Amino acid sequence: MKKVLITGSNGLLGQKITDAALADANIAYIATSRGANRHPVKKGYIYIDLDITDFEQTENIVKECSPDVIINTAAMANVDACERDPVASQKVNVEAVANLIALSERFNIHLIHLSTDFVFDGDEGPYMEDDEPNPINVYGKHKLAAEKLIKDSSCIWSIVRTILVYGVVNDLSRTNIVLWSKNALENGQTIKVVNDQWRMPTLAEDLAKACLTMAMKKAEGIYHISGKDLFSICELVDAVVEHWHLESSYICKERSSELKQNALRPKRTGFILDKAYDKLDYVPHSFGEGLKLIEEQLKKIGKQSSL
Ligand SMILES: NC(=O)c1ccc[n+]([C@@H]2O[C@H](COP(=O)([O-])OP(=O)(O)OC[C@H]3O[C@@H](n4cnc5c(N)ncnc54)[C@H](OP(=O)(O)O)[C@@H]3O)[C@@H](O)[C@H]2O)c1
Repeated sequence: MKKVLITGSNGLLGQKITDAALADANIAYIATSRGANRHPVKKGYIYIDLDITDFEQTENIVKECSPDVIINTAAMANVDACERDPVASQKVNVEAVANLIALSERFNIHLIHLSTDFVFDGDEGPYMEDDEPNPINVYGKHKLAAEKLIKDSSCIWSIVRTILVYGVVNDLSRTNIVLWSKNALENGQTIKVVNDQWRMPTLAEDLAKACLTMAMKKAEGIYHISGKDLFSICELVDAVVEHWHLESSYICKERSSELKQNALRPKRTGFILDKAYDKLDYVPHSFGEGLKLIEEQLKKIGKQSSL
């Protein structure tokens, strides 16, 4: 039995890890996040309200729960918000990670930390785990700074880099590319979509499973975990249109330079997944399979809310 404590359990990945952990009899699970628990299932595990920027509170909870593994999914993950408020980003994405490292070192905990494809500049994707990072925005710089702190520490560590995570969960504070484009087009809203950025979108379920596999196998080091299909953002939204038979005339295809977002985006990321295939038996869904799964989940949610 492994005791796994997760931070940011209210987020997209956090809620999927909760689902997967509750289905695994070998895991004793402690979910933590800011504020009240937003996961619809409240039984079978402990939930604690935890802001990871508060060291004293984090220390008390870690002492009290004595986990074998901490999975840190909590983050300020809105790239433009990080660019606008680098002080807030530094606090959550770097300083709070330093707190988790100190506690993991002190109590001999395996720390699994979530990072991003945005540590790369996007000039030469898809990337291997040991390719040279070169972030081009505040979010990427802060995520890389946290990676460096972890690598320089003496704790048992894993870094999981991922890309453009999509999925459906309860009461999300942030949307994702699939739900955003689907909802906007269904409501007849015009959306601007870039045609010069390429990503390998990641189904949240696949990422959650990989994180727990790493916890159970004590897989240390850096791992690249994403979907297996490389798409331009336009192609990705086209696949959403095709899947749900949506109206494509509301899509405005633009170059990144025309969008005027706060933060620069890497042009082409994507990962080479051989290490995950080899060491974790990782088997990601295709993007088409991911969309099918979302369709089923949305139908189920629709049925539940109409009861
Ligand atoms: N989503 C992506 O496309 C993507 C891509 C690459 C890497 N990642 C990384 O993957 C990880 C998980 O991402 P995600 O998509 O699950 O993000 P998410 O949906 O935004 O979830 C992050 C969660 O962390 C919580 N949080 C923020 N600050 C906190 C704090 N100080 N203390 C405790 N909880 C806090 C948020 O709380 P609230 O809900 O209250 O805001 C949210 O529930 C992050 O590390 C992110 O950087 C994500």
